[in-house]
Amino acid sequence: MKSDTMSQDKAKLLEELRAEIGDCRRCKLSRTRTNIVFGEGNPEARVMFIGEGPGRDEDLQSRPFVGRAGILLTAIIEKGMKMKREDVYIANVVKCRPTVDMAFVRDRPPDEEETAACGGFLKKQIAIIRPNVIVTLGNPSTKFLLGLKDGITKAHGRWFLYEGIPVLPTYHPSFVLRNGGDASPLKKDVWEDIKKVLARLAGEEKAELPHRAQSEVVIESPEEKKDDEYIPTLF
Ligand code: URA
Repeated sequence: MKSDTMSQDKAKLLEELRAEIGDCRRCKLSRTRTNIVFGEGNPEARVMFIGEGPGRDEDLQSRPFVGRAGILLTAIIEKGMKMKREDVYIANVVKCRPTVDMAFVRDRPPDEEETAACGGFLKKQIAIIRPNVIVTLGNPSTKFLLGLKDGITKAHGRWFLYEGIPVLPTYHPSFVLRNGGDASPLKKDVWEDIKKVLARLAGEEKAELPHRAQSEVVIESPEEKKDDEYIPTLF
């Protein structure tokens, strides 16, 4: 059990980090945003989920993953993992909404300049929280943390290390929604990936990871997929 004092320290450090970001003007996204979306959750979280950047709903509410993709992510956490959303930590690579042509209509992944301007804050959040497991959602966060050449189709469900923390990439909830939603085979892939996270959390005292270079694959899952296995209804 982590102590209350430690939790307060982390909460304070996160507050200080938010203050450091201030009314940020470090990149062009500041010109169109409504709100900065810092991230939210338990400073003592064992699991941290990382997306790419806020969308419309997130920009309006100043909270990560509260739109359609957020409803799916919340279902994965609460129905699938049987955890409370407030017990995990959720953040993004960039803290302001990136849109196509800066028109503030259609979302897009953050570009290099935006990622370079903002990504350091995510790294500081991770350094403060030091979760037991990080789940990267989609390509931008996976590439940002791990510097992989492989895309998410190859990388999902494999274990990597970031600064000694096990990282498991999976598909972004928006990608699942865009590719068939409830009927999508990706839903099953995501659930298989999430089961690996649960297995690691359950057995982590026993399963020490070898200390290897950042980004190197450290574990391939030994689990076999069972086609007829029950998949919780996530959305
Ligand atoms: N997509 C993301 O990557 N992050 C959010 O917060 C919402 C949607």
